[in-house]
Amino acid sequence: MILFLIGYMGCGKSSIGRELARRTGFAFVDMDREVERECGGRTVSQIFEQEGEAFFRACERKTLERLCTGERMIVATGGGVPCFGDNMEVMNAAGRTVYFKMTPPKLAQRLHHGRDKRPILRGMDDEQLLRFIERNLREREPFYSQASMVIDCDGVSDDYICNHVRMYIEKYEAK
Ligand code: S3P
Repeated sequence: MILFLIGYMGCGKSSIGRELARRTGFAFVDMDREVERECGGRTVSQIFEQEGEAFFRACERKTLERLCTGERMIVATGGGVPCFGDNMEVMNAAGRTVYFKMTPPKLAQRLHHGRDKRPILRGMDDEQLLRFIERNLREREPFYSQASMVIDCDGVSDDYICNHVRMYIEKYEAK
């Protein structure tokens, strides 16, 4: 089974994914890091700057196709992955998808420090960041909501989310 963690930037896909892998014995893969490796060790920001977003999205797609051949793996996807081409269908066909749902104010709070690492958010002040997330999330929600499971993550602990997803994996694997 491959479990794809999806959701907006800052919702906790990578940190929770790593912990979940530790608890389940699944391998953990961070898609952003895979794309960076496949682009000659450049950072996501450098790829955006030097090649543009379309190139980055094409790399994400290639990486996704490669990962879909794996087994017993938890993949923390980049926040944009589900929203381009038929990536969402590809993930749902190859495994299960779990959406970490979070409201814009909570995301903005969590992205306060991380915004400069994300080319899409760079340079925004707090007010601009919140407005951008509200708008962008509205556009992305139709994709994210196609997930096999949705978890409301506002106000719940990482431990709660981990347990919830772990039970989901166990139930799925027992089938
Ligand atoms: C992006 C999310 C980022 C990274 C890139 C674009 C997006 O990943 O792939 O900056 O479009 O939402 P994280 O969700 O891991 O921050």
